Amino acid sequence: MGAGARLGRRGRSFLEAILLVGGQGTRLRPLTISTPKPLLPTAGVPLLEHQLTRARDAGVERIVFATSYRAEMFNEAFGDGRRLGMEFRYVTEDEPLGTAGAVRNASAALTCGPDDPVLILNGDILSGHDISAQVEAHQKGDAQITLHLTLVDDARRYGSVPTGPDGRVLDFVEKSPDPPTNQVNAGCYVFRRSMIERIPAGRPVSAEYETFPMLLADGEVIVGYVEAAYWLDVGTPAAFVRGARDLVLGAMPSPVVTASEHGVLLLGGATVEPGAQVGGGTTVGARSVVGAGAHVESSVLFDDATVEAGARVVRSVIGEGARICAGAVLEDAVIGDRAIVGPGNELVNGLRLWPGVELPDTAVRFSADG
Ligand code: GTP
Repeated sequence: MGAGARLGRRGRSFLEAILLVGGQGTRLRPLTISTPKPLLPTAGVPLLEHQLTRARDAGVERIVFATSYRAEMFNEAFGDGRRLGMEFRYVTEDEPLGTAGAVRNASAALTCGPDDPVLILNGDILSGHDISAQVEAHQKGDAQITLHLTLVDDARRYGSVPTGPDGRVLDFVEKSPDPPTNQVNAGCYVFRRSMIERIPAGRPVSAEYETFPMLLADGEVIVGYVEAAYWLDVGTPAAFVRGARDLVLGAMPSPVVTASEHGVLLLGGATVEPGAQVGGGTTVGARSVVGAGAHVESSVLFDDATVEAGARVVRSVIGEGARICAGAVLEDAVIGDRAIVGPGNELVNGLRLWPGVELPDTAVRFSADG
């Protein structure tokens, strides 16, 4: 802690965070056309709210949101933070500045001292790891940066981060066909505030490709905090569906979700008609209707959606106000807001329907892989 360290809640040190929420979420289109990924409804609240409340429970009291894409929607959703028991500030980039450039830009709104720890969170991660333990490891290790590292089966899609016996990071190997370790960067960092000043200002900078390798080459102490708790990068429709399912089933612990015994979360005014089978971690949005004899499994229905009698919906996302007509079959599909899938159509293998599109009732099979 810096010499002027303040005390926060419950006698703990006051802790600030920067939250990266400026990405366009292109892999999740069309869901992210009108709503940024961190605000997508996930188990009844914006995706971000699970992580915000976990951070609060770990002692974070003030968060600076680094916004860019649809910036105004974050303030509309969370305001000054009082509802969640924290203080929120918003800093918007004129041009997206990348993962480290955004941190540098947002740091102007921090209030802590140069030696104090600042938590940096990616806005699209669900992580059950112990944030307090990560901050503690940072302080005990007298590190400049401490990264949460998680373990995955196949590290090729991630940033692989080998560490030495003392926990110090040895290298950063981004998305390599031959990763040196299955320990990967989990997108949650503790920075000593003075390290943020080392990020160049006023231009796009990537934390993964530029800042971490540069600081490592300069001999700064960068430490890995390894914890293999629940972890999910909510980047694709399949991951979004999995994350929502795991929240509803309780596999991902969240302060704002009560795990469902029956594998279904019914939001206000939702209706499941007799004879419908709904489960496997499904969320049925407010005022949505699932008709008699329909089968809905491990799926997310946004508000005001309709799944008519006898339809089958598996691992799919149904946008706000969308309608799945009688007997239609959806597997791994994404249906945009207000779209209509005519009776008997089959949509499989990741097929995405854009908002407002209407498929006729010709019982055609549509597949994303042709
Ligand atoms: P894709 O377009 O599908 O890759 O998604 P994304 O735009 O969210 O990118 P990515 O998943 O790599 O971003 C990781 C996190 O950083 C997310 O929380 C993004 O919102 C955030 N982020 C990415 N780029 C920027 C940026 O330029 N500025 C800010 N403020 N945040 C960013």
